[in-house]
Order: sequence, then C-alpha cells, then structure tokens
Amino acid sequence: MKNKNKERTLVILKPDALQRGILGQIIERFERKGLKIVGLKMAKLSEKILANHYSHHRKKPFFKNLKEYMKFSPVVLMVLEGLEAVSVVRKIVGATRGFEAEAGSIRGDFALGTRNIVHASDSKEAAKEEIKRFFSKKEIFDYPRLIEEIIYAEDERS
Ligand code: PPS
Repeated sequence: MKNKNKERTLVILKPDALQRGILGQIIERFERKGLKIVGLKMAKLSEKILANHYSHHRKKPFFKNLKEYMKFSPVVLMVLEGLEAVSVVRKIVGATRGFEAEAGSIRGDFALGTRNIVHASDSKEAAKEEIKRFFSKKEIFDYPRLIEEIIYAEDERS
C-alpha cells in the first residue's frame, strides 16, 4: 500500500448489531468520517475461524462465551480504508466494555457490557492478518472516489 490514505482495517458488525437492527447507523458512522468501504459481506462464522480469530484469548475465561456470542447469528464483515484507518476506527468504536466507552463512540452510544456491537483490528499487523482471514482478494475493491480530493490534502494522498 503506497498511498498514505490506503491503510486498511477489518470491522465485524457482531450478531447483536444485526439483531438490534442498527447496522445502518453503525456503517453510517464510518462513512461520515470519510472512510472508504472496500469490502462488505455477510457471513455465519464457524467455530474454526472464530477459534483462530480469537486464538490470543484462548486462555481467557470468556473465550467460549465470546465464540458462542459470535455464532449466535450471521455477522457483517467490512474492510475500511483511509488515512490511519486502524487507529481512527478503534477510536470510533470505543473501549471494550460499553459502560467504559466514551459517549459518542459506537460502544459508548449503543452498548452497556461486552455485547459490544463491533470488532475492529487493534494494530496494523492484526489488520493485515484479519483481512486475509475473512476476505479473498476478489472480495476487496480498489476503486476511485471523486470525494477523495475533498477529504484529503494533497500530501495526505501520496
Ligand atoms: S482483555 O481482557 O483485555 O484481553 O479484553 P479485550 O482485549 O479488551 O477484549 C478481547 C475480546 O474479547 C471480548 N471480551 C469479552 N467477550 C465476552 N465476555 C467477556 N467478559 C469479554 N471480555 C472481553 C472483547 O469484546 C474483545 O472482542 P473483540 O471482538 O476483539 O471486540
């Protein structure tokens, strides 16, 4: 990725977002920030992919519970692209537990506990791995947006 505004991150809209009918409101928050949606799909996550995705938490007491929650219904997966996309998306998403998340963040506005609406990659390295885990190359779209020249200064585009 040679352009500064081409950093990519993975977001999962979790089963509670789908069940509560707030997918549009969540996606709108990323769009209004200027982030570009380059991948978007719905899927039912398997035990295998979840065990892999959350493998760094396998010793935590909530590991099983977290996988069950993520299997409750389909999820929506997104790849978002933009300047500093990984850290920007984490800020928009907010702290893990809803009761600790800042008002104005997604979890701060929509969650109370750890049924926390969204997953977002927590580092650039994790983002690369997670995008590969959930999306094939064909499912990610590199397309121009005219508004890019309005959103970014010239030196932020190159
Ligand atoms: S921890 O404890 O600091 O490692 O937790 P954290 O890194 O913030 O969260 C890791 C992921 O586990 C989810 N989580 C939980 N799920 C169910 N129950 C409990 N108690 C719980 N605690 C944390 C949390 O939402 C993170 O999932 P993702 O999908 O990455 O947001």
